[in-house]
Amino acid sequence: MSTATKYILVLRDWIDDRFPLMEEWNKHAGEYYAPKNFNFWYYFGVLSMVVLAIQLVTGIWLTMNYKPAADLAFASVEYIMRDVEWGWWIRYMHSTGASAFFIVVYLHMYRALLYGSYKSPRELLWIIGMLIYFTLMGEAFFGYLLPWGQMSYWGAQVIISLFGALPFIGEDLSLWIRGDFVVSDVTLNRFFALHVIALPLVICGLVVVHILALHEVGSNNPDGVEIKKHKNANGIPLDGIAFHPYYTVKDLVGVVVFLILFASVVFFWPEMNGYFLEHANFVPADPLKTPEHIAPVWYFTPFYAILRAVPSQLGGIVAMGFAQALFFLLPWLDRSPVKSIRYRGIKYKIALTAFTISFVMLGWLGMQAPTPSYTWMARGFATVYFLYFLLMPLYTSMDNDKPVPDRVTK
Ligand code: HEM
Repeated sequence: MSTATKYILVLRDWIDDRFPLMEEWNKHAGEYYAPKNFNFWYYFGVLSMVVLAIQLVTGIWLTMNYKPAADLAFASVEYIMRDVEWGWWIRYMHSTGASAFFIVVYLHMYRALLYGSYKSPRELLWIIGMLIYFTLMGEAFFGYLLPWGQMSYWGAQVIISLFGALPFIGEDLSLWIRGDFVVSDVTLNRFFALHVIALPLVICGLVVVHILALHEVGSNNPDGVEIKKHKNANGIPLDGIAFHPYYTVKDLVGVVVFLILFASVVFFWPEMNGYFLEHANFVPADPLKTPEHIAPVWYFTPFYAILRAVPSQLGGIVAMGFAQALFFLLPWLDRSPVKSIRYRGIKYKIALTAFTISFVMLGWLGMQAPTPSYTWMARGFATVYFLYFLLMPLYTSMDNDKPVPDRVTK
């Protein structure tokens, strides 16, 4: 044993006498047994953590030069892009990171739909995940105002004004959120506080709770069978492997591939044709000039399309809220005894395919300027979207599911 290793072990033991370092490491990594058949879909949890870390670190560095004031914000972002050393890199990492966050989180959530990961005993884990998703949407919304471009300004104006349609409290509520009669310096200041401090704290706290809940019940897997049912004499699941080193190494491969893709976007395609950084946001906010076409960033557009599909403004808000809230109920709407899509019947497969197409199409429609035919298409896809949830108790209980194996297969 080298002298350096000896010193490290002495330090480890010193800490261990005062803090449960090895106990926690073993509980969550060295002796945490995860199913041996994780596939591609199981990379997105760790990737969400990687993107969270990127956003936190680049966010801290951006804050060092950003000015949260209506007359300085836009110019301070330009200053970061042109004059601050590596400022363009930090800013592009943060703006690309925002979209990357939603890409990995949507894929992470979709895995749960494929393999029934929200079903018992993981209902609470799913609900905590949904709380993360809601907070993340708030985080993205507040952050989008900060560059103080035309789309930042008018996007916030449109969304906050929506609350005005709520009966009785609407007008007061939107005034309370803005802190002014229009989006102004006051709004920018509070959005800055929420974006850089309040919501990141909530997200980090929720992620810790998410992992604790996951390690309490254990991971699901592509076969949807509980590995805890079959253990050896030492209490180790027969179909489990230690998270460390097996999955730490496997996840590292996923992280490297992800970082290569991420870097390619940051260096070669940071605006992504207006999908990651909208064209109108390169123009400073002008309260006297409404842009011709106001659309949120792509990750909000499926819900924006649902909002616009309903003729009344209040109805639109209710439908949009409902479209998101239904996800919380999934563990109870799904009556199938089977978790994984591998052993589900044809009805669930058709329903999930129809839902996937509707979600993507709504996302596309939400980016387009509304025309009568697009509005009717959005109504059709929104109906399919809602039916996926509302009819779920029926089609999942009547499905011709296949027999589920006792142990994991592949
Ligand atoms: C910052 C965001 C998030 C982070 C860092 C995160 C992290 C993780 C990690 C590391 C895992 C274990 C590895 C894996 O299964 O991929 C996991 C599992 C899981 N997460 Fe998340 N997650 C996040 C957001 C969400 C969201 C938004 C949802 C759902 C609404 C969700 C639902 C789940 C479920 C159901 C599992 C268990 C999946 C299974 O065992 O099959 N997570 N998460």
